[in-house]
Amino acid sequence: MNVLGIESSCDETSVALLSGEVLKANLISSQDFHTKYGGVVPELSSRAHLQIIIPLVKDALSKSQIKLNEIDVIAATAGPGLIGALLVGLTFAKGLAYSLNKPFVPVNHIEGHLFSGFLMEEKPEFPFLAIVVSGGHTLLLLVKSFTDIKKLGSTVDDAAGEAFDKVAKMLGLGYPGGPKIQKAAALGDKYKIDFPVAELKDFYNFSFSGLKTSVLRFIQKEYGEASKIPQTDLYDIAASFQHAVIRAILGKTHKALKNYAVNSISLVGGVAANKELRESLAELAGKQKKKIVIPSIEFCGDNAAMIAFRGSKLFEAGKTSGLQYSPFPGLSKQHFA
Ligand code: KG4
Ligand code: ZN
Repeated sequence: MNVLGIESSCDETSVALLSGEVLKANLISSQDFHTKYGGVVPELSSRAHLQIIIPLVKDALSKSQIKLNEIDVIAATAGPGLIGALLVGLTFAKGLAYSLNKPFVPVNHIEGHLFSGFLMEEKPEFPFLAIVVSGGHTLLLLVKSFTDIKKLGSTVDDAAGEAFDKVAKMLGLGYPGGPKIQKAAALGDKYKIDFPVAELKDFYNFSFSGLKTSVLRFIQKEYGEASKIPQTDLYDIAASFQHAVIRAILGKTHKALKNYAVNSISLVGGVAANKELRESLAELAGKQKKKIVIPSIEFCGDNAAMIAFRGSKLFEAGKTSGLQYSPFPGLSKQHFA
């Protein structure tokens, strides 16, 4: 079975071809021009998706040596994401499905990330604990099967990646903030500043907004403004902030491992690219004698391979859709209830 996957929820256009279990192509075109605006500009994102999507599909087909009429299923991200950006990929996918008379499968972007560990050689084993950390979402999930997903906690304010982006902006490091903070943090002392990690009544929920504010207060109190921060202090702030985010994630993971019998842990989403987080979580998993699966960097950020994989599982479960399916910008209450 050849599954064409299409992803266009934010600032990456991606097209993948999954042939059975073999990933034949996973092309990702990143819209780097948003950097100069300090964040993603939705309208510019939609236009860029529109320009690149057809050439990218052609490239993916030729790389895979698969002809258009050999595609069996077309899967595309339906949400959550930027509505204009989603519309481009989803409408293209529906149009292609219609013209080829092939089934169309809408995919939830977060579910794409959630199962991205299955793109690796060593796959998660059910039941597994999933930590989904992206620019828009932060979730702790208990995953018993491809269809049985229970939410243990989520963020009550900022997502983990959003916190990285906002603190990077505060420090004048630019966008996207995650990789910039990681780079600065590698040169700093993570124990230098004790930024607080919020404890919530619902222990498995996350909150990063207070942490972000405490970084801002610290900068204002110590230096007046970000441009006056000496380079070494900036490294220490980045390292201490990153350490606080990791502490929060590790604390909740540790408790969940005590309360739920799982076979493995999977860390997924854009923030899963963070080296320190990957290493710290792997260490925790080792101590707890749990298998850990963290996708390679290519599959952490937004990519269509994860959409094709999730699409193939949904197709097997009979979850195809009519062409009236509309994109959705946010996660609704039904998702991960
Ligand atoms: O999953 P993703 O590509 O897009 C969404 O679905 O949101 O995640 C993007 C987020 C951004 O906030 C970015 O700053 C963060 O992932 N990120 C990182 C790293 N690389 C990307 N955060 C921390 N460390 C990184 N190395
Ligand atoms: Zn994503």
